[in-house]
Amino acid sequence: MCGIVGTIAERNVTALLVEGLRRLEYRGYDSAGLAIIDNKQKLRRIRRTGKVSQLANALQEDTSFTGKIGIAHTRWATHGAPTEENAHPHFSHDQVALVHNGIIENHETLREYLISLGYVFTSQTDTEVIVHLLHHKLSEIGDLASALKATVKELKGAYGLAAMCVQQPDRIVAARSGSPLVIGLGIGENFLASDQLALRQVTDRFIYLEEGDIAEITRDNVKLWDQSGQEVKREIIKAQISAEAADKGEYRHFMLKEIYEQPTVIQATIDGRITGDKINLQSFGPNAEELFAKVKNIQIVACGTSYHAGLVARYWLEALIGIPCQVEVASEFRYRRVAVQPDTLFLSISQSGETADTLAALRNAFSETYPSGNYLGSLAICNNPTSSLVRESDFTLLTKAGPEIGVASTKAFTTQLTALLLLTIALGKAQKTLEAEAETTLIRELRRLPSRIDEVLASNKTIEKLAEHFIEKHHALFLGRGAQYPVAMEGALKLKEISYIHAESYPAGELKHGPLALVDANMPVITVAPNNDLVEKLKSNLQEVRAREGELFIFADEDVEIKEAAFIHVVNIPHIHDVLSPILYTIPLQLLSYYVAILKGTDVDQPRNLAKSVTVE
Ligand code: G6P
Repeated sequence: MCGIVGTIAERNVTALLVEGLRRLEYRGYDSAGLAIIDNKQKLRRIRRTGKVSQLANALQEDTSFTGKIGIAHTRWATHGAPTEENAHPHFSHDQVALVHNGIIENHETLREYLISLGYVFTSQTDTEVIVHLLHHKLSEIGDLASALKATVKELKGAYGLAAMCVQQPDRIVAARSGSPLVIGLGIGENFLASDQLALRQVTDRFIYLEEGDIAEITRDNVKLWDQSGQEVKREIIKAQISAEAADKGEYRHFMLKEIYEQPTVIQATIDGRITGDKINLQSFGPNAEELFAKVKNIQIVACGTSYHAGLVARYWLEALIGIPCQVEVASEFRYRRVAVQPDTLFLSISQSGETADTLAALRNAFSETYPSGNYLGSLAICNNPTSSLVRESDFTLLTKAGPEIGVASTKAFTTQLTALLLLTIALGKAQKTLEAEAETTLIRELRRLPSRIDEVLASNKTIEKLAEHFIEKHHALFLGRGAQYPVAMEGALKLKEISYIHAESYPAGELKHGPLALVDANMPVITVAPNNDLVEKLKSNLQEVRAREGELFIFADEDVEIKEAAFIHVVNIPHIHDVLSPILYTIPLQLLSYYVAILKGTDVDQPRNLAKSVTVE
C-alpha cells in the first residue's frame, strides 16, 4: 500500500529518497513526504499531497534541504484524509520522525494515554501515536532501538515502520510486523525500504526482516533482533531482478509494457517445469509428488485478479483431473468458519505475496486454535520469492512475471493461470488421473501459447479502434460461459480499474435473470467466444442482447461464425486448445481496457484510490 524508504550515507540523501519513492509510487499515491536531519542536527521535513513529483518540485525549490540521513513515505490514506498534515513522516517534539505502513488498531486508546501525558496531536492518523510513544519511551530509556522495542510491545495491528531522532543522528531504526521491510546494503551507506524495487538503483544485496524483527541501521552496520529480543543474523540475499525491470523502457505505460511481456514471462514460468512434452514433477519440490498424490480437495484463497485466476483453475481441476475445488476471496474466507474435507490442499494465489487478507487466511487456516484446521498442507502460487506468503507456505510454485508495476494486474494473471495449469497437470500425473496423451497435448499447447499471444498482440490496432466506441459510455457488461466467465470477470475488473467505466460481468446464461433489463443502445456488451461446446449457447445469448439494441464486441475464434454487422464488432482470435483459451482470451480484454483508459485520459498505471499491494485489511 504505502511505501517506505530510508537512507543513511556520507552524501546528501534527498535525491536517493525521492528516486526510491518514485519506484514505490505504484503502491499508494495520495501524498508523499520526506524528512532529514540536517547538518545543524535539526529535523526538517517536506510533505505534499498528490504525486511524488509534487514533493520533488518542492524539494528543488529549497536547496538548503539537505542531510545525510533521511526517511520518506508515499501514502495511501486509511485513517485521515490525504492532506499534508496527515502525510508522513510524522514528528514528535521536532526530535523524532517516523514513517509507517499498516494500521494500528489500538490507536484510540494510545492517543488518549499520550494526550494525558501532554502530547499534542496534529494529524488524524493512527501513525502519530507511534511517533509520540517512541518519543516518550526514548525520554525514559535513552537508546533509540531499545525505545522502539518498548514501543512496539504496546502496538496492536500491522506495521512496517522506520524512525530516526536528533539525539542519535547516526542511525535509523525499523520494525516489522505484518508489513514487509527490507534492508539494502551499500558500501559506507545503508538503506531501508518496504520493497526492494525502491533500492535497486543503489544496491543488489538485501536482508529481509522477518515478522517481529527490530533493526538498527547505521552507515556501516546493521543490527537485528527477533521478536523475543534476541540479537540475530539474517541471510544476505542477492537480488535476481535487474534494475531496468522496473523501468518503462520504450513503452508509454508500465501496463502496456507488462501486457507485451506476457509471451516471455509465460515462457519463463513454463521453463524448468517441463521436460520435453512431459511435466517434471521433481521441479515442484522434493516432497511435492508425495503430497500431490494425496490431495483429494483443493481450497483456493486469493484476492482481486488472483482470485479470478483461482476461479479459472477450478474448471481445470474439476474437469481435467476430477479434484473438487472451492475458491473464495480471502477477506471472506478468513472470517468464516469453514468445513474442511479430509485431504484438502490449501492453495493461495498472490502476485505480491504480501496481501494482508490472503496472508491472514493462510495463518488462520493453520493456526492451532482454528476450529477447522487439518489441511494437508499449503501451497502458494506467488510472484515474489521473498514474500511472507512464500516463507510461510509449505510449498511454492513461483510465477516468473518479474516486477509488475501497473496497478491493474496483467502479466501476473496470465502467469498465474500458466502455473495453475502446470499444477493441474502435475496433480493429474501424481494421481494418475490424467492420461499420458492428454499430458503431452496440454504441454505442447502450453509451449505454443507464447506465439499465440504474440498473434493476439498484433491485433492491437483493431482493438485500439474498437476502444473509441467506449469514450461516451458509463457502463459495460462482460459475458462469458464456462471457464470464460472468470475471464469476463477479469475483463470487467480491468475496465473499471483503469477507465472508471462501471463494468459488470455475468455468466451469459444469467443474462435473462436480471442484467438484460439494463441492455439498450447505450450498453456495450463484451464477450469472448472460443470455439467450444458452449459457443452455440453463447450465440443465443448474444441474439438476446442484439434484440434489445445492445452493441456487441465479440472476441471470437476464427472458426466461430459470427458475422460483423452494424453494432456487432468481431475481432478474430487465433484458434487455441479449449483448455488454454482463458489465458489467450484475457489478452484482448487487457488491450481493450488499456486503450479505453488512454482515450479517457485516466492515469493508467496508478488509477485513483487503488494500490498495488494491499497490505492492510
Ligand atoms: C490489489 C491489486 C490487484 C491484485 C490484488 C491482489 O487489489 O491492485 O491487482 O490482484 O491486490 O493482490 P495479490 O498481490 O495478492 O495478487
